[in-house]
Amino acid sequence: MIDLAGKVAVVTGSGRGIGRAEATRLAAYGAKVVVNDLGVATDGSETDEAPADEVVSEIRAAGGEAVSDRSDISTAAGGETLVRRAVDEWGRLDIVVNNAGFGRPRMAFNMTEAEWDDVIRVHLKGTFSVTAPACRWWREETKAGRGGYGRIINTATGLLMLGGAGQSNYVAAKAGVMAFTNAVATEMAPYGVTANTIMPSAYTRLAAIGWRSRKHNEAAGSDVDYGDPVHVAEMVCYVASPDAGYLSGQTFQVRAGMVEHIRAWEVDRVVERGDRGWAAPDLAGEIPRMFGAGAKPAELPPKDWKDDYEAKGGSATAPEKS
Ligand SMILES: NC(=O)c1ccc[n+]([C@@H]2O[C@H](COP(=O)([O-])OP(=O)(O)OC[C@H]3O[C@@H](n4cnc5c(N)ncnc54)[C@H](O)[C@@H]3O)[C@@H](O)[C@H]2O)c1
Repeated sequence: MIDLAGKVAVVTGSGRGIGRAEATRLAAYGAKVVVNDLGVATDGSETDEAPADEVVSEIRAAGGEAVSDRSDISTAAGGETLVRRAVDEWGRLDIVVNNAGFGRPRMAFNMTEAEWDDVIRVHLKGTFSVTAPACRWWREETKAGRGGYGRIINTATGLLMLGGAGQSNYVAAKAGVMAFTNAVATEMAPYGVTANTIMPSAYTRLAAIGWRSRKHNEAAGSDVDYGDPVHVAEMVCYVASPDAGYLSGQTFQVRAGMVEHIRAWEVDRVVERGDRGWAAPDLAGEIPRMFGAGAKPAELPPKDWKDDYEAKGGSATAPEKS
């Protein structure tokens, strides 16, 4: 039983796509939600759209509580305003979902400084900009004897495990998000605050080209739509819940009916020479042995990872929609 009644959440970029599903599902489980969205295009350029307002109406129509916020979370001031909005509105903050973002794909050799900076800013600095004031608030609450609950859920991408050609700015930002999350998980453990990363996969305007069909388990004879961002949102609701207090510094990929625990940055193979250290000629002899005598490094995942998704899709059941 997942019960988020009395909890207050902020979800960045929740006017559309995955964030929208996260905000509506958190509200369905009882949380009060600040729906943040700047209403930008997929390349980050300005529009006059206000998608957060629509999501707020949707949540209220379903009997939930929500307010909208149009802060630009890629700035420290925007993050501060968003956190303040939750506390001013409902007197507390329990859950932060950093999801907002956009892409500027281009090969590194053609990428402009602005394309690099903007993508790093929205994903990596944006995650920091909201997380930092939230952590300050939780810390103050603990000092005042009221703390003990906080959930930070950040968003990365499985693309970073596949090389990410044409997306070097994006995967660099997302790898930074994972590293940042792990550091914050350690920093905030004494305050009862967890920090975890989700690698989502869903049919949204940002990922439309990444999905060949909305139904990824046709072969299994099921009509569950694994392109629906609700599947990502259900995992986020679980990680946000009191039940998941034991999870921190973890990364999960959610795709095609699967939840995968991702192990990153672990020591894999070792050569050791404690007696006198290494010289380059010794290393030339030893390092190839890490990969087996004369062998190449492990095979990379299939180039067309969508085929792999589809082959595996349908092996798990979809979350219940309540
Ligand atoms: N869709 C996928 O399959 C997929 C896969 C891997 C990672 N992701 C990540 O999931 C997140 C959500 O992606 P999506 O596919 O739902 O995209 P989306 O474009 O549908 O939604 C992103 C939202 O973020 C908002 N936004 C952008 N910059 C903002 C800012 N500075 N301040 C406030 N709001 C801002 C946009 O207006 C938009 O509504 C992103 O971080 C994305 O990188 C998505």
